[in-house]
Amino acid sequence: MKREEYIQEIKRLKKERDAIILAHYYTDNDLQEIADYVGDSYYLSKVAREAKEQVIVFCGVKFMGESAKILNPHKTVLLPDDVADCPMAHMVTPQQIKQVRQEHEDLAVVCYINSTAQIKAESDVCVTSANALNIVKTLKQSKIFFVPDQHLGTYVASKVPEKEFIFNDGYCHIHRSIQKEAVLREKALRPEAQVLVHPECPSEIVDLADYVGSTTGIIDYVAKSQADSFIVCTEIGILYELKKNNPNKNFYFVGEKKECADMKRITLSKLYEALRDMKYEVVLEEAERKAAEEALLAMHR
Ligand code: 13P
Ligand code: SF4
Repeated sequence: MKREEYIQEIKRLKKERDAIILAHYYTDNDLQEIADYVGDSYYLSKVAREAKEQVIVFCGVKFMGESAKILNPHKTVLLPDDVADCPMAHMVTPQQIKQVRQEHEDLAVVCYINSTAQIKAESDVCVTSANALNIVKTLKQSKIFFVPDQHLGTYVASKVPEKEFIFNDGYCHIHRSIQKEAVLREKALRPEAQVLVHPECPSEIVDLADYVGSTTGIIDYVAKSQADSFIVCTEIGILYELKKNNPNKNFYFVGEKKECADMKRITLSKLYEALRDMKYEVVLEEAERKAAEEALLAMHR
């Protein structure tokens, strides 16, 4: 089928199935264009939680589909690709969490939404890059075990010095591959450009930032900024929304193309097949879902 035919068929099937399509900013342009809602991880989990439609098709990686199912369990949640998964979501184990809980009192386990349902079930509260700072600040516990992302954890810790942090060693390979020298080179070429950094980047990149925030945070910052040039330190998919909203502004990405292979597994044809064949359904064991729901609801409160 041609692109236009896929689009037509997706629209037809969406109505027939009573479905809503959600897409993350890191997915392909075509998916961002056809989705009913596009956003960062926090916004999309909120939309999924409140969705009235019978079917939620999540164009994103596995933890996003799982979070939708955890928060809205009576809906059918579909992932167009059954392999698309965030490697960082698996970089901590329930055993590690249990061990740290045993060793420390007055401890909150804070888990980044980029984590498996099993990890959420072991945690006290979930956070995203959009709300991690505010949520951690309001926790009553004095110690924080931040999983799985060491970089987001380090960023939050730098802003909440009153708490003691225990870190895990997880990371996003896309954000970790952004090199300080490459940002400095780009900055030397365009001294007027503002540096925008996702907090999954290592601290040496965060230290160079004019703005640090989630994908939505970066998009909102650009919309309000007087500047017309930006060095963007995150995944390339965000460029679609940035260009759409700011056709006259200039965006520069550093180093080799920063492309999340897992996000890019999702295509228009797979979205079509997901709606046609009602696949791949997210299924969770109920006890685990319930425990994970508590951590996600603590974030949405
Ligand atoms: P946000 O869109 O929430 O900033 O998340 C970035 C990310 O890496 C999602 O996988
Ligand atoms: Fe995971 Fe990084 Fe891809 Fe986001 S960009 S899904 S954190 S690997």
